[in-house]
This record gives sequence, structure tokens and C-alpha cells, in this order.
Amino acid sequence: MKPKNQSSQKNLKSITILTLFFLFILYLILRPNFSPFQPIKIPHSLSICNKIPHSLSESLIHYATTKAIPIQNITEISVTWRVLEDLSPCNFLVFGLGLDSLMWASLNHGGRTVFLEESDGWMRLVKEQMPSLEMYHVVYDTKVTQAIQLLQIGKSKDCQTVSDPRYSKCPLALKNLPEEVYDTEWDLIMVDAPTAWDPTKPGRMKAIYTSGLLARNKRDGETHVFVHDIERAVENKFSRAFLCEGYEREEVGRLGHFVIPSHRSGFGRPFCP
Ligand SMILES: *[C@@H]1O[C@H](CO)[C@@H](O)[C@H](O)[C@H]1NC(C)=O
Repeated sequence: MKPKNQSSQKNLKSITILTLFFLFILYLILRPNFSPFQPIKIPHSLSICNKIPHSLSESLIHYATTKAIPIQNITEISVTWRVLEDLSPCNFLVFGLGLDSLMWASLNHGGRTVFLEESDGWMRLVKEQMPSLEMYHVVYDTKVTQAIQLLQIGKSKDCQTVSDPRYSKCPLALKNLPEEVYDTEWDLIMVDAPTAWDPTKPGRMKAIYTSGLLARNKRDGETHVFVHDIERAVENKFSRAFLCEGYEREEVGRLGHFVIPSHRSGFGRPFCP
């Protein structure tokens, strides 16, 4: 008795499972849009057979075979890297052309990275080695010794008014940059130039002020502005005055990170919060 009973229970179980299975197949076939031959769509980001882009392999080999490494160290570089991981591909403007340029352009792969350089000799040298980088020569007409006077001028109404730097009445606004600098909405701006290590050098006064103006004058959204050598007196004072303490997000090593909202989309914002 017992074994027979067990086996009929087993049979009942199998029949139930089979029925459920056929019902499931029937459901698959009858549901709308069913096609047994539809290919499975793999999202682009998951496809596994993509070759590494040529510019990235070039960059890897460059850094693997060079002894000259960037001035910013890993702690400082990571600040900008984190933002790029979030926003890239994006628009990235860099004051200064250096040993880190190829790295920034690679980290913003597929985006637009533009470098502004004061020395055309250095620019030509880098261009030969890294022809893919987009770079422009810029002339600065200041000296570090003018910093105190320019900081004072920066407090005037003309300088605390937001506009396209080309039409600004503030003497601190750079007006001789390539047109694309004014016509592009930048997501990141890095100020690591011009030279400023002694009083005869141009100093970063105008570069810092103009970065803040470009950020405020953006149509909408935020701009991340980074200032290297923020521990130096001029860089420090100008960043606090024109990128604003209230917009500073962090200071890591010698790098200051400011996040400036559009003032065009937020009418009535004071120059600094
Ligand atoms: C990078 O430099 C900053 C200051 O210049 C320093 O505080 C930091 O510890 C350095 N990081 C590394 C990994 O050396």
C-alpha cells in the first residue's frame, strides 16, 4: 500500500510540474511581441570586444616609458579624477600645458580638453610629441607685482558684474583667449598657469578671475574650478575673492576645488555667496 501511494503522489507532482511548464511556454508564445528569433540586446557598455582606443593606448605607453611625471601628486590628481569620473565625456579647460596634459585629455576621453599655454616654444615641443592635444598660445600682460592693486580693482562694481569676459568692463577679464574658450560651456576649469613663482612672472590673477566669470556666465549648471598652488599668497587671495570661500568644496594638498553655479540661470545671486 505505502509504496503505491507514494508513487501515485509522485505522479501527481510530475503532472502538476509538467502542466505548469506547458502553461509557462504557452504564456511565452502568446504574450505580445514574442519572437523566438529576436536577438538579445546587450547594452553598449557591456559589450566585451571593444578595442582600446588608439589615443588611450598611446597615453598608457607614454606614461609607462617616461621618467618625467606630473607635478601634482596622486592625492591632488584624485580630486579632479573623481569629478571627471562623474562628468566625462565633458568640456575641460586647462590653463597650462604640462606633463599631466595627456593624462587629463585621456581621463576625459571622448570629451573636449583644451590647453592654454603662455610659452610658444614649449607648446611647439609638446605638440610634436602629442599632436592630438588641442592647445592655444595665450599672452598675459600682468606681473605678479601688480597683484595687490588688481585685487583692489577686483572689488569694483564692474568686476563684480557677471558677463561674457569679452564684454566685461573689468580689467581682470582676459579678452585675448581663442573664441572657442568663450563660446564653450565648460564643466571643469583647471588653473595651473601662467607661471607665478617669482615677481617678474605674469601670475594667475587674470586666469583665476576669468575662470570664475566663465563659470558664473554659463547658461545653467555648475562649473568645477580647480586652482593649483593654492597655498601661495596670490593664488590664495584671488581664489577666495573671485571663486569665493562660499563656493570652495575642498582643499587637498596644494589643490583648491570650487563649485560655482550659473549666475545667469539664478538671477540676483551676489557675486560671492
Ligand atoms: C601630495 O602633496 C600634498 C601636499 O603637497 C601632501 O599633503 C600629500 O600627502 C601628498 N600625497 C602623497 C600621496 O604624497
